[in-house]
Amino acid sequence: MRVLVLHSDVPPDAPADEQDTLITARAVAEALRSRGHWASLAPNVFDPEKLLSAIAEHRPDMVFNMVEAIFGQGELAPAVPALLEKLTVPYTGCGAAAMALAGDKPLSKKVLQLAGLPTPDWHEWPLTQMPSSDARYIVKSATEDASFGLDAGAVVTGADAVRQRAQRCRSEYGGRWFAEAYVEGREFNISVLEEDGEPRVLPIAEMVFHAWPSERPRIVGYDAKWSEASPEYSGAERRFHREGTESELHQRLTGLCKAAWRLFNLRGYARLDFRVSEAGEPFVLEINPNPGLEPGAGFAAAAAQAGMSYAEVIEHIVICALPNLTR
Ligand SMILES: Nc1ncnc2c1ncn2[C@@H]1O[C@H](COP(=O)(O)OP(=O)(O)OP(=O)(O)O)[C@@H](O)[C@H]1O
Ligand SMILES: [Mg+2]
Repeated sequence: MRVLVLHSDVPPDAPADEQDTLITARAVAEALRSRGHWASLAPNVFDPEKLLSAIAEHRPDMVFNMVEAIFGQGELAPAVPALLEKLTVPYTGCGAAAMALAGDKPLSKKVLQLAGLPTPDWHEWPLTQMPSSDARYIVKSATEDASFGLDAGAVVTGADAVRQRAQRCRSEYGGRWFAEAYVEGREFNISVLEEDGEPRVLPIAEMVFHAWPSERPRIVGYDAKWSEASPEYSGAERRFHREGTESELHQRLTGLCKAAWRLFNLRGYARLDFRVSEAGEPFVLEINPNPGLEPGAGFAAAAAQAGMSYAEVIEHIVICALPNLTR
């Protein structure tokens, strides 16, 4: 097959989480070549004419869509699947609407709540309606991912502290910020792969916070994901098989992943993040369509636990996107 790996156009001075895209795009192309496919790379620029010429030049049977942002903005990324749909070029992963919905965290939470799936309570900008209480919240961006703006100061107590933090984030980074009830407890990142048109839940990964300073909130913040020299980076570790597959929690998490997959019209591959309260109640934090495919990171690690090599899982993502097969 001829596959065009289309990735975000990353400027040389972009932060670590964006630079990662290029390394991953090369790894994806290499994986496809190792399985006997033709694969080429192209950056996506926000110009439909350029996308058309890239398609005309490479004549792909399939676009491997790795575009996470345009002009550094995640909200614009759904333009790519929308355009490919129009051009009738098959592409991997989620469609535009699913991507746009999941990309707006408060809107996704509304949909989850209406469908009866558990997600922590939340309050949206301008945060004027919050009850005064001493509850703990985490202040998060409504639209950015990769733990953007999340450090120990993001977890605050009470409405005044929430408003102060949200205001500070808004002046520093712009955008919408909201407050979500902080769920103390275990964290699970669950990768889901499409198989014969159905969601297959891969082995469940738990983020374990070990040697974590007691006064720090146990969150996978920006440093834990991206600053290799930080104590948070080495202090949060992914582990598999801590939760027995027969356990009630395992069954519950698996059921929630499948329900959310169908509700959000997910396709190809996705990762869902959960926290489980100390009372054992699972909550969906967020849904990530087209999650990062860095070799060895989240999704690829879960596939490896299921016995699939990196090249196999990448090829599988392409095959399940073939028209008329599973959709
Ligand atoms: N309500 C919450 N309670 C406890 N911890 C939370 C909550 N929301 C977020 N966190 C912590 O912050 C991390 C990042 O949050 P979240 O997954 O919502 O954001 P993200 O930046 O979109 O992440 P990703 O990189 O997975 O796209 C979580 O992995 C978790 O450790
Ligand atoms: Mg997350």
